[in-house]
Amino acid sequence: MAKLSLIRDKIGGRDPGLLPGSLNYPRPVLDPQYALYYQRGRVMDIPTEIREKFATDGPAAFGRDPQTGLPIYGPLPYEQCFPTNVPNELNLSGSWQVAKPLLAQLGIQIETKILEGAFGEVWRVDMGPGNGTMAVKILQIWQFVNLYGSLTEAMRMMLRDVESVRGLRHPNMVSVETVLHVRDDRTGFPSLYSFIFMELCDGDLLDEMDSLPDQVYDEIGAHRWLKQVIEGLGYLHQNRVAHLDIKPDNILFLKQPHGAPHIYKLADFGLAEVFHADEPSMERSVKKGTARYLAPEVFAYKQLPPNSPIQMFNTEKLDIYSLGMTMALSLIGFDEIDQYCYPTTGWLRDVSPNSFIDDSLVFTGKFEKNHPMIELLMLMTSTVPGERPTVQYVRTCPWMQQVL
Ligand SMILES: Nc1ncnc2c1ncn2[C@@H]1O[C@H](COP(=O)(O)OP(=O)(O)O)[C@@H](O)[C@H]1O
Ligand SMILES: [Mg+2]
Repeated sequence: MAKLSLIRDKIGGRDPGLLPGSLNYPRPVLDPQYALYYQRGRVMDIPTEIREKFATDGPAAFGRDPQTGLPIYGPLPYEQCFPTNVPNELNLSGSWQVAKPLLAQLGIQIETKILEGAFGEVWRVDMGPGNGTMAVKILQIWQFVNLYGSLTEAMRMMLRDVESVRGLRHPNMVSVETVLHVRDDRTGFPSLYSFIFMELCDGDLLDEMDSLPDQVYDEIGAHRWLKQVIEGLGYLHQNRVAHLDIKPDNILFLKQPHGAPHIYKLADFGLAEVFHADEPSMERSVKKGTARYLAPEVFAYKQLPPNSPIQMFNTEKLDIYSLGMTMALSLIGFDEIDQYCYPTTGWLRDVSPNSFIDDSLVFTGKFEKNHPMIELLMLMTSTVPGERPTVQYVRTCPWMQQVL
């Protein structure tokens, strides 16, 4: 049978002495002694009584969080692993499916694939009796090594999804509950999979658009999702995190019982940038993001030769632009947007986003030019970063405050 090793947190001096990268690493470690658990956004040591109960009750020993009522998933190590002593030229291979037996030992059954993303697969998982279902994003280190060249950089990028939002929790953000790293030593080489367990949502904005008449949101629908997502983004910015990949695929919804409105949540923090509390502003030199939603200043920067002077951008304004373009797309639809926008390059054909929105939403008679939603949209998608509103402005502007 495959030799699998759980790897646990090595950051911040919490390394228990079981060094990842050591090929003599012991057989599967399910000893809660070496595990941490993740509760309400904080990494906790497992109390002794739970440790003892785990021997007889398994994961059920963790019960539920008394404040939120959510199940506590333990003892999955909420770990980070930087295998510093592993040479870069390792042959990293193997499918994450080999980790299935280990997950089964933890009471976790991987059920159906929700989506195959650029880097990870997202699956629906059964967390075991009484623990409900979750979504798990499965990342494989070799994909990142292929892209980023070195193992160290690959680890850094792979864990960004989790690191950038560690400890953050908000109703309009998809919460990361637990992260499990599994190392597969079958071949004598470690190949690492990360399982990021998140709350399970019912779909993303694209899925919802598909289900709507004309495949676009109307004013009420757009108002509803934006009002919630702006709260999530406000929380993120307040905690000095810029998302940098806002787009319809990264906004999820959770259906509510009795026909109550969906809850919308910001997801996918794989490109997020974190700023120190004492950094004066959230400025960074960035070159990434999804073309269609990428602010023009970053786009122009990306076209420059590699040795050009470094440019810094206000990342909050980059998020506002992407949110504005997401909003525009949600009202206009893909077919029409692609008549103007080359999806692979993000260039708008001869027109600014503002005049394209004007063409699609005002010229067609759908909205008046001075409609407050249109005015907001124009500001958010301005090509001049300084003209774009702050999150606070969007939250409190009259249209957003309206009850529709
Ligand atoms: N927690 C979740 N619940 C339901 N679906 C999800 C969840 N997380 C992601 N998905 C689906 O999987 C897709 C890809 O996930 P995402 O985190 O955005 O990964 P990627 O980095 O590959 O874009 C999302 O667009 C969404 O449709
Ligand atoms: Mg995504």
